Amino acid sequence: MQKKFVKTQNVKKLISLINNLNSRPAGIPGMALVYGEPGLGKTQAVLWWAAHNDVIFIRGTNLMTSRWLLEEIVEELGEEPYFKTSDLFKQCIKQLKEKPRLIIVDEIDYLATDYKAIETLRDIHDKSNAPILLVGMGQADKKIMRYKHLYDRISEKLKFKPFSQEDVKNIILQLCEVEMTDCAIKFVFEKTNRFRQLVKFIRKAEEIAKANNLSTLDEFTLKELINYESGEIDNAVKKTK
Ligand SMILES: Nc1ncnc2c1ncn2[C@@H]1O[C@H](COP(=O)(O)OP(=O)(O)O)[C@@H](O)[C@H]1O
Ligand SMILES: [Mg+2]
Repeated sequence: MQKKFVKTQNVKKLISLINNLNSRPAGIPGMALVYGEPGLGKTQAVLWWAAHNDVIFIRGTNLMTSRWLLEEIVEELGEEPYFKTSDLFKQCIKQLKEKPRLIIVDEIDYLATDYKAIETLRDIHDKSNAPILLVGMGQADKKIMRYKHLYDRISEKLKFKPFSQEDVKNIILQLCEVEMTDCAIKFVFEKTNRFRQLVKFIRKAEEIAKANNLSTLDEFTLKELINYESGEIDNAVKKTK
């Protein structure tokens, strides 16, 4: 399988969301929320953006407190974090004012249970004017809604959607090292609509093709070889070896 980043429809929408956030007129709040079911490529998309742009990328974790969050941001800003929390906060704001940068917080769901961490993000945004992009799971929207002051500052929202057939085709064409017929692609689309499953599927399809010396996979070969009813694709590889 090719190691490539695919610009899906979700990714294209994310790019325009970030561009809107960065170019928002004065007075428009600069927080955004990207959310959706697991495995749709949210993390991969923001990591890709982070790799090509000067941003701060933070991943929320289970025990993350507001202090921990500030420390991570300051470290990402390339500074040694101050000891006192008040100094740490000032340090963070000073750096962001000097060099404004987008802050991306992935796995926001972990922080959504700690109002202090959430309020800290709001304070950072208000004091520094740095745009902040929150990334979370399917329910993140509802979880964040509980924090009215923060929610009011969200000017852009994007829900990552399951892939369209066009997306699946594009992903297979770019990642799969074995050719698939259009019917095979349609079959895959009907069975999987998330990246994680799709990636696993492509890997298996390549194994099957290699084990059977096939240069193209059609719908019938896939159907025959892959017992999707039981969700077992590993057996299909063994069966044909
Ligand atoms: N745009 C992409 N291009 C190529 N592979 C991707 C892309 N997005 C996701 N993937 C693959 O799908 C997996 C799951 O994506 P991930 O970003 O972790 O989903 P989410 O954060 O929505 O749960 C990744 O580990 C990666 O293998
Ligand atoms: Mg993720």
